[in-house]
Amino acid sequence: MSETVNTPTPVALITGGSEGLGLALTSALLGRGWQVVTDGRDAARLTAAVASLSGQITALQGDVRDPGHRDDLTDAVRRLGRLDLLVHNASSLGRTPLPHLEDTTGTELHDVLDINLVVPLEITQSLLSLLTASNGVLVSITSDAAIEHYEGWGAYGASKAALDHLTLTIGEETGVRAYAVDPGDMRTRMQQDAFPGEDISDRPLPTSVVPRLLNLLDARPPSGRYRATDFDHEPAGSRK
Ligand SMILES: NC(=O)c1ccc[n+]([C@@H]2O[C@H](COP(=O)([O-])OP(=O)(O)OC[C@H]3O[C@@H](n4cnc5c(N)ncnc54)[C@H](OP(=O)(O)O)[C@@H]3O)[C@@H](O)[C@H]2O)c1
Repeated sequence: MSETVNTPTPVALITGGSEGLGLALTSALLGRGWQVVTDGRDAARLTAAVASLSGQITALQGDVRDPGHRDDLTDAVRRLGRLDLLVHNASSLGRTPLPHLEDTTGTELHDVLDINLVVPLEITQSLLSLLTASNGVLVSITSDAAIEHYEGWGAYGASKAALDHLTLTIGEETGVRAYAVDPGDMRTRMQQDAFPGEDISDRPLPTSVVPRLLNLLDARPPSGRYRATDFDHEPAGSRK
Protein backbone atom coordinates (compact mmCIF):
# COMPACT_ATOMS: atom_id res chain seq x y z
CA MET A 1 0.00 0.00 0.00
CA SER A 2 1.49 3.39 -0.90
CA GLU A 3 0.97 6.33 1.43
CA THR A 4 1.15 10.07 1.12
CA VAL A 5 2.62 12.40 3.69
CA ASN A 6 0.20 15.18 4.52
CA THR A 7 1.57 17.08 7.52
CA PRO A 8 4.72 19.17 7.95
CA THR A 9 5.38 18.19 11.58
CA PRO A 10 7.66 15.16 12.03
CA VAL A 11 6.17 12.20 13.83
CA ALA A 12 7.82 9.48 15.95
CA LEU A 13 6.45 6.29 17.42
CA ILE A 14 8.51 5.22 20.43
CA THR A 15 7.39 2.11 22.27
CA GLY A 16 7.80 2.25 26.04
CA GLY A 17 7.93 6.00 26.59
CA SER A 18 6.75 6.18 30.19
CA GLU A 19 10.22 6.01 31.74
CA GLY A 20 13.86 5.30 31.06
CA LEU A 21 15.32 5.88 27.61
CA GLY A 22 11.92 5.96 25.91
CA LEU A 23 10.76 8.84 28.11
CA ALA A 24 14.02 10.74 27.71
CA LEU A 25 13.89 10.46 23.92
CA THR A 26 10.20 11.36 23.83
CA SER A 27 10.93 14.49 25.86
CA ALA A 28 13.77 15.53 23.56
CA LEU A 29 11.78 15.05 20.36
CA LEU A 30 8.81 16.97 21.78
CA GLY A 31 11.31 19.72 22.56
CA ARG A 32 12.29 19.71 18.90
CA GLY A 33 8.65 20.22 17.93
CA TRP A 34 7.96 16.62 16.91
CA GLN A 35 4.70 14.81 17.50
CA VAL A 36 5.30 11.63 19.49
CA VAL A 37 3.11 8.57 19.89
CA THR A 38 4.16 6.34 22.77
CA ASP A 39 2.90 3.85 25.29
CA GLY A 40 3.48 1.89 28.46
CA ARG A 41 1.60 -0.77 30.40
CA ASP A 42 1.35 0.93 33.79
CA ALA A 43 -1.32 3.64 33.59
CA ALA A 44 -0.08 5.65 36.58
CA ARG A 45 3.50 5.66 35.26
CA LEU A 46 2.32 6.77 31.82
CA THR A 47 0.10 9.49 33.26
CA ALA A 48 2.98 10.81 35.37
CA ALA A 49 5.25 10.78 32.33
CA VAL A 50 2.77 12.74 30.23
CA ALA A 51 2.32 15.25 33.05
CA SER A 52 6.09 15.84 33.03
CA LEU A 53 6.12 16.60 29.30
CA SER A 54 4.92 19.39 27.10
CA GLY A 55 4.21 19.16 23.42
CA GLN A 56 2.18 17.11 21.01
CA ILE A 57 2.13 13.67 22.58
CA THR A 58 -0.27 10.78 22.12
CA ALA A 59 0.23 8.37 25.01
CA LEU A 60 -1.69 5.11 24.88
CA GLN A 61 -1.79 2.78 27.85
CA GLY A 62 -1.28 -0.83 26.85
CA ASP A 63 1.05 -3.74 26.24
CA VAL A 64 2.80 -3.97 22.87
CA ARG A 65 2.20 -7.72 22.97
CA ASP A 66 -1.55 -7.03 22.66
CA PRO A 67 -2.53 -6.88 18.94
CA GLY A 68 -5.45 -4.54 19.72
CA HIS A 69 -3.09 -2.11 21.45
CA ARG A 70 -0.68 -2.30 18.52
CA ASP A 71 -3.58 -1.40 16.22
CA ASP A 72 -4.33 1.60 18.45
CA LEU A 73 -0.68 2.71 18.20
CA THR A 74 -0.47 2.33 14.44
CA ASP A 75 -3.89 3.96 13.94
CA ALA A 76 -2.72 6.95 16.02
CA VAL A 77 0.35 7.29 13.79
CA ARG A 78 -1.72 7.03 10.61
CA ARG A 79 -4.05 9.76 11.86
CA LEU A 80 -0.99 12.02 12.19
CA GLY A 81 -0.25 11.29 8.54
CA ARG A 82 3.47 10.52 8.55
CA LEU A 83 6.17 8.57 10.37
CA ASP A 84 9.69 9.97 10.47
CA LEU A 85 11.02 7.76 13.23
CA LEU A 86 10.01 4.35 14.56
CA VAL A 87 11.84 3.31 17.73
CA HIS A 88 11.53 -0.19 19.12
CA ASN A 89 12.43 0.55 22.71
CA ALA A 90 10.01 -1.41 24.94
CA SER A 91 11.74 -4.61 25.90
CA SER A 92 11.85 -7.43 28.40
CA LEU A 93 14.69 -9.12 30.26
CA GLY A 94 12.50 -12.13 30.90
CA ARG A 95 12.61 -13.69 34.35
CA THR A 96 14.75 -11.98 36.95
CA PRO A 97 17.09 -12.72 38.64
CA LEU A 98 18.38 -13.66 35.19
CA PRO A 99 18.47 -17.47 34.90
CA HIS A 100 21.07 -19.59 33.18
CA LEU A 101 19.89 -21.05 29.87
CA GLU A 102 19.75 -24.54 31.34
CA ASP A 103 17.07 -23.23 33.71
CA THR A 104 15.19 -21.18 31.08
CA THR A 105 11.95 -22.75 29.90
CA GLY A 106 10.78 -22.71 26.32
CA THR A 107 7.83 -20.58 27.37
CA GLU A 108 10.15 -18.02 28.96
CA LEU A 109 12.28 -17.88 25.82
CA HIS A 110 9.16 -17.52 23.66
CA ASP A 111 7.97 -14.61 25.82
CA VAL A 112 11.28 -12.73 25.52
CA LEU A 113 11.46 -13.35 21.78
CA ASP A 114 7.86 -12.20 21.40
CA ILE A 115 8.27 -8.76 22.94
CA ASN A 116 11.86 -8.11 21.86
CA LEU A 117 11.72 -9.52 18.34
CA VAL A 118 8.32 -10.54 16.96
CA VAL A 119 6.41 -7.48 18.16
CA PRO A 120 8.95 -5.00 16.70
CA LEU A 121 8.72 -6.80 13.35
CA GLU A 122 4.92 -6.70 13.40
CA ILE A 123 4.82 -3.00 14.25
CA THR A 124 7.38 -2.30 11.52
CA GLN A 125 5.35 -4.27 8.96
CA SER A 126 2.21 -2.28 9.83
CA LEU A 127 3.92 1.06 9.38
CA LEU A 128 6.52 0.32 6.71
CA SER A 129 4.71 2.04 3.85
CA LEU A 130 4.20 5.20 5.92
CA LEU A 131 7.81 5.10 7.15
CA THR A 132 9.03 4.76 3.55
CA ALA A 133 6.75 7.54 2.29
CA SER A 134 8.12 9.82 5.02
CA ASN A 135 11.75 8.90 4.26
CA GLY A 136 11.76 7.85 7.89
CA VAL A 137 14.25 6.05 10.10
CA LEU A 138 13.91 2.74 11.91
CA VAL A 139 15.73 2.41 15.23
CA SER A 140 15.82 -0.77 17.28
CA ILE A 141 17.33 -0.35 20.71
CA THR A 142 19.72 -3.22 21.18
CA SER A 143 22.33 -4.16 23.76
CA ASP A 144 25.92 -5.29 24.08
CA ALA A 145 24.35 -8.56 25.24
CA ALA A 146 23.50 -9.13 21.55
CA ILE A 147 27.18 -9.64 20.77
CA GLU A 148 28.76 -10.52 24.13
CA HIS A 149 27.92 -13.62 26.13
CA TYR A 150 27.11 -12.89 29.74
CA GLU A 151 25.93 -15.40 32.31
CA GLY A 152 22.16 -15.16 32.61
CA TRP A 153 21.69 -12.94 29.57
CA GLY A 154 21.24 -15.76 27.03
CA ALA A 155 17.53 -15.33 26.22
CA TYR A 156 17.63 -11.52 26.21
CA GLY A 157 20.93 -11.46 24.28
CA ALA A 158 19.62 -13.89 21.67
CA SER A 159 16.48 -11.78 21.23
CA LYS A 160 18.55 -8.61 20.75
CA ALA A 161 20.94 -10.34 18.32
CA ALA A 162 17.95 -11.47 16.29
CA LEU A 163 16.41 -8.00 16.52
CA ASP A 164 19.63 -6.53 15.11
CA HIS A 165 19.44 -9.02 12.27
CA LEU A 166 15.81 -8.30 11.40
CA THR A 167 16.32 -4.56 11.66
CA LEU A 168 19.28 -4.47 9.30
CA THR A 169 17.63 -6.90 6.90
CA ILE A 170 14.58 -4.63 6.72
CA GLY A 171 17.00 -1.84 5.82
CA GLU A 172 18.45 -3.98 3.02
CA GLU A 173 15.07 -5.05 1.73
CA THR A 174 13.33 -1.68 1.79
CA GLY A 175 15.99 1.00 1.58
CA VAL A 176 14.72 2.51 4.86
CA ARG A 177 17.57 3.78 7.04
CA ALA A 178 17.65 1.11 9.73
CA TYR A 179 19.76 1.24 12.86
CA ALA A 180 20.32 -1.19 15.71
CA VAL A 181 21.63 1.08 18.46
CA ASP A 182 23.25 -0.06 21.70
CA PRO A 183 22.64 2.70 24.25
CA GLY A 184 25.14 1.31 26.77
CA ASP A 185 24.33 0.73 30.41
CA MET A 186 21.82 3.18 31.86
CA ARG A 187 20.48 3.82 35.34
CA THR A 188 16.92 2.58 34.79
CA ARG A 189 14.38 0.18 36.21
CA MET A 190 15.44 -2.46 33.68
CA GLN A 191 19.07 -2.17 34.76
CA GLN A 192 18.04 -2.42 38.43
CA ASP A 193 15.89 -5.47 37.63
CA ALA A 194 18.92 -7.09 36.00
CA PHE A 195 21.05 -6.42 39.07
CA PRO A 196 18.63 -6.77 42.00
CA GLY A 197 19.86 -5.20 45.20
CA GLU A 198 23.01 -3.80 43.53
CA ASP A 199 23.94 -0.15 43.66
CA ILE A 200 23.60 1.01 40.03
CA SER A 201 24.24 4.68 40.75
CA ASP A 202 27.45 4.53 38.69
CA ARG A 203 25.44 3.94 35.50
CA PRO A 204 24.71 7.06 33.44
CA LEU A 205 21.15 8.37 33.24
CA PRO A 206 19.24 7.66 30.03
CA THR A 207 19.12 11.41 29.33
CA SER A 208 22.87 11.19 28.62
CA VAL A 209 22.18 8.84 25.69
CA VAL A 210 19.61 11.08 24.02
CA PRO A 211 22.00 13.69 22.51
CA ARG A 212 23.83 10.78 20.88
CA LEU A 213 20.61 9.41 19.41
CA LEU A 214 19.75 12.88 18.12
CA ASN A 215 23.21 13.14 16.56
CA LEU A 216 22.59 9.79 14.86
CA LEU A 217 19.24 11.00 13.52
CA ASP A 218 20.81 14.20 12.25
CA ALA A 219 23.75 12.39 10.66
CA ARG A 220 21.62 9.67 8.99
CA PRO A 221 24.62 7.38 8.49
CA PRO A 222 24.28 4.22 6.39
CA SER A 223 22.08 1.53 7.92
CA GLY A 224 23.98 -0.51 10.47
CA ARG A 225 24.60 -1.51 14.04
CA TYR A 226 25.99 1.30 16.14
CA ARG A 227 26.81 2.13 19.72
CA ALA A 228 25.28 5.38 20.90
CA THR A 229 28.79 6.48 21.89
CA ASP A 230 29.69 6.43 18.17
CA PHE A 231 27.66 9.66 18.00
CA ASP A 232 29.22 11.67 20.80
CA HIS A 233 29.68 14.59 18.43
CA GLU A 234 27.12 16.55 16.45
CA PRO A 235 27.40 15.99 12.71
CA ALA A 236 28.74 18.95 10.74
CA GLY A 237 25.89 21.26 9.66
CA SER A 238 23.36 19.44 11.86
CA ARG A 239 19.84 20.85 11.94
CA LYS A 240 18.17 21.38 15.29
N1 LIG B 1 19.08 0.09 30.94
C1 LIG B 1 20.15 -0.40 30.35
O1 LIG B 1 21.25 -0.45 30.95
C2 LIG B 1 20.09 -0.89 28.93
C3 LIG B 1 21.28 -1.32 28.34
C4 LIG B 1 21.27 -1.77 27.02
C5 LIG B 1 20.06 -1.74 26.33
N2 LIG B 1 18.92 -1.32 26.94
C6 LIG B 1 17.68 -1.28 26.14
O2 LIG B 1 17.20 0.05 26.18
C7 LIG B 1 15.78 0.04 26.02
C8 LIG B 1 15.14 0.89 27.09
O3 LIG B 1 15.44 0.30 28.35
P1 LIG B 1 15.28 1.10 29.70
O4 LIG B 1 16.41 0.67 30.56
O5 LIG B 1 15.05 2.55 29.42
O6 LIG B 1 13.95 0.42 30.28
P2 LIG B 1 12.96 0.93 31.43
O7 LIG B 1 13.49 2.10 32.16
O8 LIG B 1 12.57 -0.29 32.18
O9 LIG B 1 11.72 1.46 30.57
C9 LIG B 1 11.03 0.58 29.72
C10 LIG B 1 9.83 1.30 29.17
O10 LIG B 1 9.11 0.41 28.30
C11 LIG B 1 7.79 0.21 28.82
N3 LIG B 1 7.41 -1.17 28.51
C12 LIG B 1 8.04 -2.30 28.92
N4 LIG B 1 7.40 -3.37 28.48
C13 LIG B 1 6.36 -2.91 27.74
C14 LIG B 1 5.31 -3.54 27.01
N5 LIG B 1 5.21 -4.88 26.97
N6 LIG B 1 4.41 -2.78 26.35
C15 LIG B 1 4.50 -1.43 26.40
N7 LIG B 1 5.46 -0.77 27.09
C16 LIG B 1 6.37 -1.51 27.74
C17 LIG B 1 7.90 0.51 30.31
O11 LIG B 1 6.68 0.87 30.90
P3 LIG B 1 5.74 -0.26 31.62
O12 LIG B 1 6.65 -1.15 32.42
O13 LIG B 1 4.76 0.51 32.44
O14 LIG B 1 5.09 -0.99 30.49
C18 LIG B 1 8.85 1.72 30.25
O15 LIG B 1 8.15 2.87 29.82
C19 LIG B 1 15.37 -1.42 26.01
O16 LIG B 1 15.19 -1.87 24.69
C20 LIG B 1 16.55 -2.13 26.64
O17 LIG B 1 16.65 -3.47 26.23
C21 LIG B 1 18.92 -0.89 28.22
